[in-house]
Amino acid sequence: MEDNPKLDELYHLLKLDVVGSTNEEAARLGREGAPAGTLVWAKSQTGGKGRRGRDWVSPGGNLYASLLLRPNILLAQAPEISFVAAVAVFNTLCFILPQTARIHMKWPNDIIVEGHKIAGILLESSAQGEMLDWLVVGIGINIASSPDKTPFPATSLHESGAPHAKTADVLGRFADSFKRVMETWTNEGFAPIRKRWLEFAWCLGEEIEVKTEQETLRGVFCDIDPSGALILDLGGGDKRIITAANVIRGFPT
Ligand code: BTN
Repeated sequence: MEDNPKLDELYHLLKLDVVGSTNEEAARLGREGAPAGTLVWAKSQTGGKGRRGRDWVSPGGNLYASLLLRPNILLAQAPEISFVAAVAVFNTLCFILPQTARIHMKWPNDIIVEGHKIAGILLESSAQGEMLDWLVVGIGINIASSPDKTPFPATSLHESGAPHAKTADVLGRFADSFKRVMETWTNEGFAPIRKRWLEFAWCLGEEIEVKTEQETLRGVFCDIDPSGALILDLGGGDKRIITAANVIRGFPT
């Protein structure tokens, strides 16, 4: 049914019409002790947040959801869950879009269809010492529309071959897929997640331009390390390990 996603019992859905940011709402619930599996879903957001302080424009018709988790892990392991989320969104879109669609994951966790961004993920967390207390996985998937004039071109499911996709169905599929990928991560660790991510990585082995807080670098995207950091080959034996940056352009051959 359009308005109610089918969800496994591990999820506790909080459905809202409008909210500032589902991530903010899930973080507030996290601080108040809400259980793992709390899933905040809003029809639109007035203050949607993107990575690195950017806004996430959030009109009705797209998916805005944030999942509260309480895994018993070191804070340093949290980035692994961002790859878990990326693979789950990727699997969801593979299911929904036609088989011919070329879908990739752009480091660290954007989803790209035919070279256009269709989904983004924002993780926020709180720790007690070195251990994670709670983690919010926020996902935005462009379903009915995509923003214009973004630094990286954007698209939506309706534009990319799934003209009838509906938010509740997409959320239900994502929740299912996330549960499965998370189980793989819990039972087998990061290696199979990293493998799947690399198999569908955008511009792997190609030249890319990467913007860190300090500089813009151009080099060959040669791998991700066992923790998920991007390895950029600048040539002449100079390889950089990048943990936080934006991949702003690719030069696929
Ligand atoms: C990115 O910059 O690519 C990440 C975008 C994440 C957007 C989602 S929409 C649901 C959740 N609530 C937010 O305020 N942001 C995330």
